[in-house]
Amino acid sequence: MGKAVGKIILSGLTLSVLICTGCRAVNSHGEVMTTPRGAAVAGERDYVGSKVCAGCHPENYEGWKTTLHSKMIQEPGQPGALVADFSKKDISLPFGLKDVDLLLASRFKQRFMKKIGDDYYVLPMQWNVATKEWVRYFPRDEWWVGQYPEDWQKRPTSRLCDGCHSTGLIGTGTTITEWNVACEACHGPGERHVKAEASLGPGKGAGAKIVNPTKLPFERANDVCFQCHLAGRPPEGSNFADRDYPVGYLPGDDLSRYRSPAPSPGREGHESHEFFKDGVSRKNRNQGNDFIQSRMYSRGIRCFDCHNPHSGKYTAMVYKPGSSLCLTCHGEGSLAGPFERGLTEHTHHKPDSPGSQCIECHMPRIGKNAVKLESRCHCFDFEFVSPEQTVLYNHSNACNLCHKDKTTEWALRALVDWDGRGKWRWQRGLQELKERTLEEKGD
Ligand code: HEC
Ligand code: HEC
Ligand code: HEC
Ligand code: HEC
Ligand code: HEC
Ligand code: HEC
Ligand code: HEC
Ligand code: HEC
Repeated sequence: MGKAVGKIILSGLTLSVLICTGCRAVNSHGEVMTTPRGAAVAGERDYVGSKVCAGCHPENYEGWKTTLHSKMIQEPGQPGALVADFSKKDISLPFGLKDVDLLLASRFKQRFMKKIGDDYYVLPMQWNVATKEWVRYFPRDEWWVGQYPEDWQKRPTSRLCDGCHSTGLIGTGTTITEWNVACEACHGPGERHVKAEASLGPGKGAGAKIVNPTKLPFERANDVCFQCHLAGRPPEGSNFADRDYPVGYLPGDDLSRYRSPAPSPGREGHESHEFFKDGVSRKNRNQGNDFIQSRMYSRGIRCFDCHNPHSGKYTAMVYKPGSSLCLTCHGEGSLAGPFERGLTEHTHHKPDSPGSQCIECHMPRIGKNAVKLESRCHCFDFEFVSPEQTVLYNHSNACNLCHKDKTTEWALRALVDWDGRGKWRWQRGLQELKERTLEEKGD
């Protein structure tokens, strides 16, 4: 990685209106933006910033402000933004709050950005929220580490992070039009829409000049979220081989032209930094990689059928809390299942038990975010997170995450004993366990 970073224009948190013109063909690094769309359409990459959208869509704006998408990058002085404890006595930090220019995230962990020259760099310690601990931050296993020196001051966020934590940089390759995941990250650049609204008037067709993800074919609709929520790589022959985000992509495009999915081991593969042996994610921000393996994806369900981009009222922006979300489409009589007569018959736990919450069995926390067992699996099918998976692929399962004092074999036996379809399905895992024990005994 010889090229100097730096000419990326970083608008401050306060400067949210910035129209990007002239950033279409060649970016400020002199890199040619060969996007498969061919010649750029005039105005196609002109952003206006969320404050302009707020003028006509105040409800979407106020709702979005309550989501973490709007709080990914904050200034240390912003009320409530700092969650890390810089006064903790048991550790000597190699930097202080005075070195921090921007805070990076707040829910599971907090990292810290320092401005050096024209770019930002991530300071080498992070705060883990769940354990209230400082730990070292030093990426070792990311696919890009071979392209960058070990020194944190040589790993610019403009190439490795900012695309997914801001708006405009993915679409232009050069310009952060606004920090945070704002309106135009999902709706595409808005200048054409705003101009048309102003000149034509409401309801005269200007709506067609902005992307409404719900009107896209379902794969492209999911691509809007996958641009940031799918572990990937620059595609073959990309001009942006050292960047970890899909440069050039705009909402509505086919994302696969700008990003290839991270290699997944598939069944019987090798466990990697990103995936367990069976292809289930072992870390955060891989929701897309998990989701594409599910039947829900193949049936046309979209991330935003469950997540509300304009409301942070419930944890993780879901439309409804707890099982009520799933029961919008599932439940007795639903063609989508479950196929027992009642929910208790399905879950085998009391109705008010935590063991009856859909997500605890179907999207358990088996992945690492800041700490292990924090990130929720987005494969949904119980098969991916059953105790059998623990036997075969050595990752946690839904049952033993709660029944910590019990063995995997206990969980498998419980499943086999449950009336219904358990008998044949979960015998396999038990059989495998039995044969391994025999092997160990030298039989
Ligand atoms: C001058 C007022 C105005 C501004 C500014 C504005 N919009 Fe709109 N927008 C409208 C109106 C009015 C509609 C209703 C549909 C129509 O006019 O066709 C609309 C419709 C939309 C739709 C739905 C389109 C559809 O076909 O379903 C989206 C999405 C949208 N706006 C997003 C945005 C975003 C994002 C911004 C900022 C980049 C923005 N709007 C700025 C007035 C505005
Ligand atoms: C994380 C992606 C995302 C962000 C950020 C986002 N939206 Fe949306 N927006 C969507 C999706 C998906 C839909 C379609 C589903 C729906 O209606 O909720 C949508 C629908 C809309 C619509 C049409 C339906 C309606 O609610 O009237 C408008 C207008 C809109 N968004 C405006 C905005 C504005 C303004 C912002 C910024 C303040 C914003 N959005 C931020 C993803 C996003
Ligand atoms: C391809 C897009 C992408 C890139 C590149 C990326 N991130 Fe993120 N990041 C995300 C998404 C999406 C999430 C939230 C996903 C989740 O919680 O599973 C996230 C979450 C985080 C969080 C935790 C959020 C919280 O509230 O706890 C931190 C900290 C973070 N990223 C830092 C970084 C740093 C540092 C880099 C660069 C070295 C980076 N990210 C690169 C997409 C990205
Ligand atoms: C430009 C990149 C980007 C896009 C596009 C994007 N996200 Fe995110 N998303 C992030 C980052 C970064 C975070 C972490 C925010 C934080 O923790 O502060 C995040 C967090 C989330 C969260 C967790 C919020 C919480 O409260 O824990 C959900 C849910 C989510 N995104 C869903 C979506 C959906 C659905 C879409 C598509 C409609 C989408 N995202 C599009 C980058 C993006
Ligand atoms: C918008 C509707 C909708 C919502 C909301 C929804 N589902 Fe689904 N789900 C479906 C559809 C459709 C299928 C596919 C049914 C089929 O083809 O057999 C499905 C299938 C499933 C399956 C079958 C296994 C598989 O291969 O994916 C499970 C398990 C599942 N959903 C769990 C959940 C859980 C847990 C939630 C709540 C977090 C949820 N669903 C929310 C529509 C939905
Ligand atoms: C205690 C764990 C547990 C809980 C809680 C749970 N499930 Fe399941 N679910 C399973 C198991 C195990 C299977 C696989 C059954 C089989 O194929 O043998 C399954 C299968 C399914 C399927 C696939 C269709 C079928 O009947 O096999 C759907 C859909 C589903 N569950 C939805 C839900 C919904 C919705 C909720 C919340 C109301 C929920 N589940 C709660 C364990 C659970
Ligand atoms: C069937 C419903 C459903 C679908 C589809 C879905 N999610 Fe989720 N998601 C949830 C639920 C439920 C949670 C956890 C809510 C909670 O913790 O209470 C969640 C949590 C998250 C989180 C927070 C991090 C974590 O590990 O808890 C992120 C980020 C996220 N989802 C992103 C996405 C993205 C991106 C997509 C599409 C690839 C997606 N989700 C598809 C239901 C869904
Ligand atoms: C979210 C936590 C949670 C999950 C996930 C969970 N359980 Fe439970 N389980 C409980 C609790 C709490 C009880 C106590 C009785 C009740 O509430 O129904 C229980 C009771 C039981 C019992 C009867 C009491 C005993 O300890 O012998 C069995 C058997 C059982 N669970 C098996 C399972 C299996 C198998 C799975 C995975 C399919 C599972 N559980 C998933 C929380 C959980």
